[in-house]
Amino acid sequence: MFKRTDFKESDVQGFYSGPAGSLWELCMTEEIHSGGKETTNVMAKALGLKPGMHVLDVCSALGAPARHIVKDHGVRVTGLDFTDAYNEEANKRTKAAGLDKSILFVRGNAMDMPFPAETFDIIWGQEAWCHVLDKDKLIAEAFRVLKPGGKLGFTDWIVTGQIADAELKGLMEMMAFPNMQSFTGWQEAMKKVGFKVLDAKDETEAYARCWDDYVRTVTKDAKEGIIKANGPDIYAFAEKLVTDWRAAAYAHKVGRGFYIAQK
Ligand SMILES: C[S@@+](CC[C@H](N)C(=O)[O-])C[C@H]1O[C@@H](n2cnc3c(N)ncnc32)[C@H](O)[C@@H]1O
Repeated sequence: MFKRTDFKESDVQGFYSGPAGSLWELCMTEEIHSGGKETTNVMAKALGLKPGMHVLDVCSALGAPARHIVKDHGVRVTGLDFTDAYNEEANKRTKAAGLDKSILFVRGNAMDMPFPAETFDIIWGQEAWCHVLDKDKLIAEAFRVLKPGGKLGFTDWIVTGQIADAELKGLMEMMAFPNMQSFTGWQEAMKKVGFKVLDAKDETEAYARCWDDYVRTVTKDAKEGIIKANGPDIYAFAEKLVTDWRAAAYAHKVGRGFYIAQK
């Protein structure tokens, strides 16, 4: 576990309620994770989603992956997120898409989930758990609310190689990450609470290539618009963020982990 600043709940909420929230949607589309729809399809297949299954999306943001898997697989989704602006927008977009009978977004913390034990068939997470302060608590909560035999699938931004302290600290501070897991650290955390790890992949190469698009969007295609909407300081911050993260991903210092486990 790579620990840095203890960002508080309000720091992460502020990050997503402010310009960063809309900048991520601009770069990644409303599925706010690298690889977009394609990586969602990979995880849905690996988890064997079936009609009627109840999925909990932990850190559901704008809810686009939930709408995607409801349409493609006939599942029901509860989304859990602690940023009110995102939950409101997620519920609004879901109603507009006519999917509000199958999806509900609720406010809550991933470290203390507001659900009874053994509620869900599937726990789902995409590239958000890097923000969670106590990742062991998150995994213990996922285990508690999952039905016996149920599956956990998630991707996360992880530390994948040697990286100098100062460089990692800079990367994490730009993203409001309090700490980051390593590729094996996530597997150990799951095993510790009783999960059987069925699959674990280091997807850093594909992840690094996604940063090419984010750098192009920020520094070329959307540059003028970002400056007009947010001012030159936010633009400079966004440019540094995408440039530094892209370089670290190509150097295999940080990357993406993909995990499937069973209770
Ligand atoms: C990168 S976005 C998630 C993207 C989303 N999974 C997707 O693929 O579209 C990160 C989200 O995590 C949420 N978040 C971070 N820490 C959280 C916590 N401890 N509990 C609940 N939500 C949290 C933020 O509010 C934000 O909406």
